[in-house]
Amino acid sequence: MKKIIKNGIIVTAADTYTGDVALENGIITEIGLNLLAEGAEIIDASGCYVFPGGIDPHTHLDMPFGGTVTADDFETGTIAAAYGGTTTVIDFCLTTKGQPLQQAVDTWHHKSQDKAVIDYSFHLMVSELNDKVLGELPQIIENEGITSLKVFMAYKNTFQADDGTLFKTLQVAKREGALVMVHAENGDVIEYLVEQALAAGNTDPIYHALTRPPELEGEATGRAAYLTELTDSQLYVVHVTCAEAVGKIAEARKKGLRIYGETCPQYLVLDQTALEKPNFEGAKYVWSPPLREQWNQDVLWDALWSGSLQTIGSDQCSFNFKGQKDLGLGDFSKIPNGGPTIEDRFSILYSEGVQKGRISLNKFVDIISTSSAKLFGLFPQKGTIAVGSDADIVIFDPSIERTISAESHHMNVDYNAFEGFEVKGEPVSVLSRGEFVIRNKEFVGKAGSGKYLQRKRFAAEAPRPSKTAISGGVV
Ligand code: URP
Ligand code: ZN
Ligand code: ZN
Ligand code: ZN
Repeated sequence: MKKIIKNGIIVTAADTYTGDVALENGIITEIGLNLLAEGAEIIDASGCYVFPGGIDPHTHLDMPFGGTVTADDFETGTIAAAYGGTTTVIDFCLTTKGQPLQQAVDTWHHKSQDKAVIDYSFHLMVSELNDKVLGELPQIIENEGITSLKVFMAYKNTFQADDGTLFKTLQVAKREGALVMVHAENGDVIEYLVEQALAAGNTDPIYHALTRPPELEGEATGRAAYLTELTDSQLYVVHVTCAEAVGKIAEARKKGLRIYGETCPQYLVLDQTALEKPNFEGAKYVWSPPLREQWNQDVLWDALWSGSLQTIGSDQCSFNFKGQKDLGLGDFSKIPNGGPTIEDRFSILYSEGVQKGRISLNKFVDIISTSSAKLFGLFPQKGTIAVGSDADIVIFDPSIERTISAESHHMNVDYNAFEGFEVKGEPVSVLSRGEFVIRNKEFVGKAGSGKYLQRKRFAAEAPRPSKTAISGGVV
């Protein structure tokens, strides 16, 4: 049935204006003033923003990691995402050495297809790049529409790939039109620092941060940037946390390189002192890279505003405090890395960013949705409000004030990393391809209604760095 969202303030990455949006057969069919309501269901959005649905370019749903499996699967994770204003997630499909790539992708299809309540896609992890993998990759890119490849420069002895693998992946990506994503930390040095800390009896969660210093993130980011320059390829650095890494990205972008960066809500609002919380509670705040000293938050906000960083990913990777995080009691290196963030990504960026004057409303939309759509081959199907685009829409009431809490969140975990945070604004209704998933703050969607998205190759829509851009803010 046709729907018309009436009298909302429509916000895209470029414009802010009051109007009506008509939706039919899953897409936006008309935008204008006083659209004729005949035969349509009317949704009153007066006083609300009408945003394109959020795109979360970085999630780990139902993922085996750190001796356990993430607590949110494609059902609970995408329900929580929808509550939070996100209508598309791109999840990381893991691969193991020797495994046929198609088998890995099929495993991820099985995890997601009857469960997701919003649309989803996959990035593909590259763990090795021998002739067999080289032969398989072009077919996966073509047949599955997976146009982003992930290389881990950390997690030695599990996910970490060597520099040769990263280099070859960049070459293949250049040839095939894919975007290479890196987890940029120097895994070899970290491994050694962890051994030294444990040998000295330093086993508490804070040592997770102290054994992964920002220099090792900056070093790996710079190394990846040079390899990208050498291959004339394209690179996206996930979960950037610190001035050292932002500086490397800004420097590369000034040279005109196609290098992009993402940060996450946790790095914008939490800091390293959280790992010192008593009674092992610091384990709740164990991410890799780790939370940093607080002053880095300003650097990250400046980088988002100036364009050195383009996106925000949740890096949703949830583990319960009881029964999962506590695997690391007495040994910080066994704490499963990651946290529950998929639901609050949107509201934290709005409240801490727009409300506090750090970014504009249009920049908010760009960071939360449009840039990811452009970088990951989904634009203009996703990432904007335009005639012909998918009707993925968030009706957001900026006047609501609320407190984030595990008591009221929808993620399948026993804590919230942003517990007690006061935020302004809330998604009240969320539509995926024209159908309500959240209606007046109630979930009305259906498991399995989310569609797998084949994505276009890395292309002209991707935001181009300019050699003359003033980038990097304070760095
Ligand atoms: O601590 C984190 N970030 N966990 C998720 C896995 C990753 O490195 O992205
Ligand atoms: Zn309908
Ligand atoms: Zn990572
Ligand atoms: Zn991640």
